[in-house]
Amino acid sequence: MALALVIGLSSWPANAQEAGGPPDRGQRSRQRTGDPQGNPGAEGWRMPPSRLIAVLDANDDGAIDAAEIAKASTALKELDTDGDGKLTADEYRPSQPGGPGGFGGPGRPAMSGPRGRGRGMRGGPGGPPGDRAGVGELTFDSSPLAKDNAEKKILAVLDDMNQNERRGMMSVPRDDGRYLRLLTESVAARNVVEVGTSHGYSAIWLCLALRTAGGKLTTFEIDAERAALARRNFKRAGVDSIVTLVEGDAHQEVTKLKDPIDLLFLDADKVGYLDYLEKLLPLVRPGGLIVAHNMNAHQADPRYVKAITTNPELETLFVKLGGSGIGVTLKKR
Ligand SMILES: C[S@@+](CC[C@H](N)C(=O)[O-])C[C@H]1O[C@@H](n2cnc3c(N)ncnc32)[C@H](O)[C@@H]1O
Repeated sequence: MALALVIGLSSWPANAQEAGGPPDRGQRSRQRTGDPQGNPGAEGWRMPPSRLIAVLDANDDGAIDAAEIAKASTALKELDTDGDGKLTADEYRPSQPGGPGGFGGPGRPAMSGPRGRGRGMRGGPGGPPGDRAGVGELTFDSSPLAKDNAEKKILAVLDDMNQNERRGMMSVPRDDGRYLRLLTESVAARNVVEVGTSHGYSAIWLCLALRTAGGKLTTFEIDAERAALARRNFKRAGVDSIVTLVEGDAHQEVTKLKDPIDLLFLDADKVGYLDYLEKLLPLVRPGGLIVAHNMNAHQADPRYVKAITTNPELETLFVKLGGSGIGVTLKKR
């Protein structure tokens, strides 16, 4: 049994990568399988091993050793997602490329599941063969917790905006907002620039980080109605004193900025991202971040993607939290 498992596991990482990878990985797949189109199901194509095997291989070394066999029954229970005491094919079958609970297509987080049980599996482009974190559902749920009354008030406003104001505002999903706060606070940002305010939802997430650091946000919005709504929201969240909302076309307005930028958040006209980058990159401080929203194949401007992925002065990763994708670019020191 152990031998069979070793053989099965040895082909996992390459196949796992091929299953959900971007075109260049597909190319490698075609080379390996001998199928000119790289079609799943064609001769030589191998299914990824089942979750059954992967969950048993706790240390991910390609073999099921005695200790792992001893813990097998506990490990198998991890796959019983509906908790009925038995494993159905849906629970143990090989993950579908790019599908729910699968390896993830480009930019797609894999193995996100209902109950957050088990170990995560890396999805989307980027991981080298063997870069497998595990199997099972990736995510655990978490919600923002207010540290104090000020934070509680801001979170309540964000919650209200999320529930009642979202329509037509194109604001970022809640977790993307939380991620913005996390990035802003982690780089100890004090000067943040946002292009595309809308009603101020992402701006308020940024302010959650800025208010305790004594920082400020400058945010740009071309639409007068949205700008007015954003001002009201900044006021009720109590962050209006740290926000400067510039109304007008950001392509012109950003050229008036002079101070070094710790974090630049782009979330306006997608075809404008390259122009914003060219105008503002010189102001982004070394060690600062450029965060771009809607970084997916349908929305992202390929010229912007090229600019942030081919410049050796920059380090870019694409992250997908459930929204439409985020590009996080570090301006290297
Ligand atoms: C996706 S929404 C921004 C959402 C906002 N960041 C949030 O998450 O709450 C994009 C906004 O950018 C604004 N916008 C588009 N082009 C612009 C430009 N050239 N200058 C300033 N704002 C612009 C739109 O009016 C719209 O409100």
